[in-house]
Amino acid sequence: MDKLYDQYDRLHDYVRLSITDRCNLRCVYCMPKEGLPFFPTDEVLSQDEIVQLIENFAEMGISKVRITGGEPLLRTDVVEIVRRIKAVDGIEDVSITTNGLYLAKKAAALKEAGLDRLNISLDTFKADRYKEITRGGNIDQVLEGISVASKLNFKKIKLNIVLIKGQNDDEILDFLNYTKENNVNVRFIEFMPIGNSLKTWQKEYVGLKSVFDICEQNNLEYEPIELRGNGPSDNYQIKGHVGSFGLIHPISAKFCENCNRLRITADGYIKACLYWNEEIDIRSAIPDKVEFRRKIQKALDNKPLNHEMAMSETDRIIDKAPTWRHMSQI
Ligand code: GTP
Ligand code: 5AD
Ligand code: SF4
Repeated sequence: MDKLYDQYDRLHDYVRLSITDRCNLRCVYCMPKEGLPFFPTDEVLSQDEIVQLIENFAEMGISKVRITGGEPLLRTDVVEIVRRIKAVDGIEDVSITTNGLYLAKKAAALKEAGLDRLNISLDTFKADRYKEITRGGNIDQVLEGISVASKLNFKKIKLNIVLIKGQNDDEILDFLNYTKENNVNVRFIEFMPIGNSLKTWQKEYVGLKSVFDICEQNNLEYEPIELRGNGPSDNYQIKGHVGSFGLIHPISAKFCENCNRLRITADGYIKACLYWNEEIDIRSAIPDKVEFRRKIQKALDNKPLNHEMAMSETDRIIDKAPTWRHMSQI
């Protein structure tokens, strides 16, 4: 089997697949206040197209699939999608990134269908803040979802926290303390300038050094750990805690040199890099394996070494959109 390498010799074995651009929230860093027009249903990949696309990828050495959105649990056939992807020969790891609102209802069925790992967005523990950041979400639903999922023996549950200056950066300690008795990986994510957040990120960005500062101020001793996972997070564990924490720093530190992922948008385009304007239509090539491979390889041959965000904290101000898409559309 010929595996997928890009022009910098990076092996690609991980696909992030958006199965819908729809979302039941409008998080401030992700969507505009007024929301976004959603893609018409017939522009979104069907279940059969998704399965065939993953079968094609598996023949090229892709072994990990992350299902994303929008909010992937809004798709009524999400459980069936997981079951069919997990059954594809060569696919070893299937995971979902969700806002958790429908998790209490769907976690057991997802687990039964073969879902391995779950990443859940939770930017605050405070109900009023959660409502503000997500523009209307009810935190109790997410907390219940986390509680239900925690009892189901997923290989790993991760919580995603995008740090926003003045909005949730005073809760770093609360999240670190949460790992004391909860076996989750709490991940602090740097605010990225993309789509809607382009206008505000420069003043709301929080560098992740502040997480170490909080540890030191509170005498929390931590050490680096290796965590099974495939993404861009650096992981640590505080002494005596059952859970761990991770840092995803697209701005202050480059993680691109190990990038192993391709993205497929819900409307069937390849994005070889999150922060990059080039897109190649892949939907039309799904039934034709030769053409499919050619298009994927073309995307990899053009994939940049780095996204520009990695240079932006001190070097420059990002004031133009790198892609027309908002985060929820990727
Ligand atoms: P695993 O490591 O498999 O758990 O996945 P992940 O951490 O990549 O998945 P998740 O969907 O939870 O993504 C968390 C955050 O990582 C996203 O919000 C982004 O901020 C960041 N991220 C994920 N993939 C990329 C990428 O390709 N480029 C950049 N710049 N950031 C990414
Ligand atoms: N910066 C950083 N992370 C973001 N996400 C969405 N928009 C942004 C942004 N501008 C995150 C969400 C979710 C993940 C899929 O993407 O918090 O955890
Ligand atoms: Fe929806 Fe996730 Fe974007 Fe929030 S971050 S609006 S939950 S897609």
